[in-house]
Amino acid sequence: MCGIISEKLSNYLIEQFKLDINGIHGVTHWRRVRRNAHWIAEELRESPDLEVCDLFAYIHDSCRQTEVADAGHGDRAANLAFDLHGSYFDIGQDRLALLTEAITIHHEQIQHPDLTIKVCLDADRLDLGRIGVTPDRRFLNTTAARALIWKCVPKLMYKRA
Ligand SMILES: [Fe+2]
Repeated sequence: MCGIISEKLSNYLIEQFKLDINGIHGVTHWRRVRRNAHWIAEELRESPDLEVCDLFAYIHDSCRQTEVADAGHGDRAANLAFDLHGSYFDIGQDRLALLTEAITIHHEQIQHPDLTIKVCLDADRLDLGRIGVTPDRRFLNTTAARALIWKCVPKLMYKRA
């Protein structure tokens, strides 16, 4: 693995995942969200905290109990991040607070003032193409993410708004 996502952390998240690990909220989604965050970051003038974005990508959907509406999955994943901090990764309390906020709100909040959380939310939404949905530009926080819709969604699905 690379960077903050150690093999130990990745294996743990995969092993505890209750749904199909190859399904729409499984590890390929986690990897694409991470990739999307890095693509967004390349287009920004300021740097988001990419270690927080990487951890968000791998943890945010890791506690889903269903592939459809699952209102508690953000809170469960944020609690898991707290539990794993210190043994599977260590980013300090301030950055952990940022990570857990992004995870907690990711399924209900559209906009956020913090750059790192903006990138986390946008990176997740840019992967809507996997379920046949083209991300709505109005629901993306950054112009960088809006410019990446074409890159993240299969070409045949993409329609200019
Ligand atoms: Fe997600």
